Amino acid sequence: MAICLISDETLPALHTIMSKLKTIYQCQSCGFSSPKWLGKCPDCNAWNSFTEERESPKALKAKPSLSGSSAPQALSAITGRTEKRAAIGISEFDRVLGGGIVSGAIVLIGGDPGIGKSTLLLQAVGKIADQHGTVLYVSGEESPEQIKLRAERLSINSDHIILLPETVIENVIAYATEMKPSVLVIDSIQTVYTEELTSAPGSVGQIRESAAKLMYYAKKAHVPVFLIGHVTKEGAIAGPRVLEHIVDTVLYFEGDRGHPYRILRTVKNRFGSTNEIGVFEMSDSGLSEILNPSELFLSERPENVSGSTVIASIEGTRPLLVEIQALVSPTSFGMPRRTSMGIDFNRVNLLVAVLEKKAGINLGGMDTFINVVGGFKIVEPALDLGIVAALVSSFREIPVHPKTVFFGEVGLSGEVRAVAQCEARLKEAAKIGFTNAVIPRGNAERLKDQYGLTITGVKNVEDALDHIRH
Ligand code: TYD
Ligand code: MG
Repeated sequence: MAICLISDETLPALHTIMSKLKTIYQCQSCGFSSPKWLGKCPDCNAWNSFTEERESPKALKAKPSLSGSSAPQALSAITGRTEKRAAIGISEFDRVLGGGIVSGAIVLIGGDPGIGKSTLLLQAVGKIADQHGTVLYVSGEESPEQIKLRAERLSINSDHIILLPETVIENVIAYATEMKPSVLVIDSIQTVYTEELTSAPGSVGQIRESAAKLMYYAKKAHVPVFLIGHVTKEGAIAGPRVLEHIVDTVLYFEGDRGHPYRILRTVKNRFGSTNEIGVFEMSDSGLSEILNPSELFLSERPENVSGSTVIASIEGTRPLLVEIQALVSPTSFGMPRRTSMGIDFNRVNLLVAVLEKKAGINLGGMDTFINVVGGFKIVEPALDLGIVAALVSSFREIPVHPKTVFFGEVGLSGEVRAVAQCEARLKEAAKIGFTNAVIPRGNAERLKDQYGLTITGVKNVEDALDHIRH
């Protein structure tokens, strides 16, 4: 047995060493932990993302099980509860949730600071309180007086909305357990913390631990919980990303602050389909729903101007007509500029190359600018044909027929490939009053109905360009 003598002078030094031993460094982006600080995360390659976290032994304790029993059970022996869904009463919000809130579900709403997350939730809470009873709104960001001011602006006044300015998660859960609210809202997850950890609120450890505690509460008490999470400029650091695997549903509230339109998008949903969107408009009196976004987005479309086309895109299950604008002008510098807003820059470069090589349109000495009108971001490849048409229309200075809609994926050989959900796109175009559609031949051949449109099936880009004339 070794006996170690420690004098009074060495004790403080030993304390420091012991506390150092408990310190770990964690990547704020992906949660990777390391015993020493690292400049670059070996897991997600983020730079400068490591911060000091102190681990407390308490936090390492086993977590309680979700169902109360952790014994193995046969699948057939488990009686499934039918999930109870309650509509909020804001149809665009209900749509992205898959038809309403499910009891015990934990929903994360992420977005840039100032985009309108608190406004959206306060409006939702106003509706929920009227129909389903008491809502507990926990705010670590704003005082009850500030929330009251916002509520006045939104004309919300209810005895059933209880505001709680609290940031210790154990206290929040204690209040909620006593109060049994119909919904619990945490604004925001970055401000709450557990006293079991000594790291600062907003760090990966705190966010994860607090969310885990809220999840056990939600599942045990069958109370739906909404978490608000800020996404920082980098998009990921200490933000909702670290929570995506814990929660049941992840919604992102997006938009451009210069535009009034906001899109609520489902990224993950254990209780419904993903990639669903809800469209809102921010005004002086809060967010209002936009039930017919296609009509609104096209309402300001200039007539008979070259470089403007309309594409029929699909967001989730929802067709959306969006205007694409292109401007092609001779470059004043040696290197032509390629700018795109709302679409992937590389995709536009690829389409420009296809146009040059396969359709003989020489854009080498031209600057090209592409913009998706309304501050939208579109990622689906069905957009390609619309971009190509807009580029060529601007290049040739010939306006595209104003009642023509385009969609189709363009391949590297210049071929136009079929896209999914063709019928839904055509139906929406016909509904809005379009008369012509230029679509992939593969889709055109399989159509059961023309929906009152003159439909042209094209095989390649060159074919499609024949239709860019009045
Ligand atoms: P907020 O909900 O506080 O954003 P977040 O919680 O995502 O940080 O909303 C912030 C912005 O919304 C703010 O710049 C003001 C604007 N706003 C309106 O334009 N109209 C309104 O009725 C409200 C309540 C806010
Ligand atoms: Mg807020």
